[in-house]
Amino acid sequence: MKMPEFNFSAWMHQGLAQVEQGLARWVGEAAPTALRDAMRYAVLDGGKRLRPLLVLAAAQAAAQADDKSLNEAYAIRAACAVELIHAYSLVHDDMPCMDNDLLRRGKPTVHVQFGEAMALLAGDALQALAFELLTPEGDDALAGVQARLCRALAVAAGGQGMAGGQAIDLTSVGKALSEDQLKRMHEAKTGALLKASVHMGWLSQDPAPDQAGWPQLERYGHAVGLAFQVVDDILDVTADSATLGKTAGKDAQDNKPTYVSILGLEASRAYAGQLRDQALSALAESHLPDVQALRELALMVVDRQH
Ligand code: IPE
Ligand code: IPE
Ligand code: MG
Ligand code: MG
Ligand code: MG
Repeated sequence: MKMPEFNFSAWMHQGLAQVEQGLARWVGEAAPTALRDAMRYAVLDGGKRLRPLLVLAAAQAAAQADDKSLNEAYAIRAACAVELIHAYSLVHDDMPCMDNDLLRRGKPTVHVQFGEAMALLAGDALQALAFELLTPEGDDALAGVQARLCRALAVAAGGQGMAGGQAIDLTSVGKALSEDQLKRMHEAKTGALLKASVHMGWLSQDPAPDQAGWPQLERYGHAVGLAFQVVDDILDVTADSATLGKTAGKDAQDNKPTYVSILGLEASRAYAGQLRDQALSALAESHLPDVQALRELALMVVDRQH
């Protein structure tokens, strides 16, 4: 059967609507008003939602590979959970003890708006909510899927992933890292969560452990994840604050080692392009029947302007 022509823009529109609906429903639901307001401010009305889109695209690829219909409920829960961890990481990343930023997603940062203590707690609560979403009550039949999703997210967010990478970032200020050290920092602080998005999309469809296509998709996730932070480093230098919705030029101002500070702008651009090509080759080599959304997302990560 010939696949109908893929309309990425329509696919993305639908995915974003589902994610926004989930987040609007779940974020801060049972929290006291002051915390609820800070949580909702941090998560809603902004953000490109790239990680949730990667989850949904990988879920679709996994479902098609197994020739079964998409388990949409778990794909959306996984998509929202990843975004919650990401949003929490941004709230803490912006605090005075870390990057001390005043602008995020075109608005004052959470600590500017609600104070440092409430920003800290909003981050804490968003992190916990991510795992709550992955373990809905009364879904015992899917306990294995839930556990695998929680583990993938925990590993990506913790000491060997995002939090670990952020620690390296903070202790590297003013240091001349080697390219290899920089790569490891970026893989951890940003790459891990993007790679986990692909993994969680895959796991949300309960594939057989030996389902063909995963090793290639893992390579895709790794390349896209690293490319994402290389481009973030580039945009910090080339874009303006209004376009970014966050303060441009902050890395140089803070003396952070970045791809641009270590390789220069042109070599960084070339490297982002190489990583995109690696991601696309991995997809082609996966022989999965439905990778069109993943393909478009890889292009978007590298070609984005904000
Ligand atoms: C910014 O991430 C922080 C990094 C990990 C580099 P995004 O560029 O995905 O931020 P939003 O979610 O669109 O605001
Ligand atoms: C942040 O990296 C990565 C996170 C884990 C939040 P950056 O500090 O470069 O992110 P921005 O540029 O502030 O969004
Ligand atoms: Mg930072
Ligand atoms: Mg920052
Ligand atoms: Mg940055």
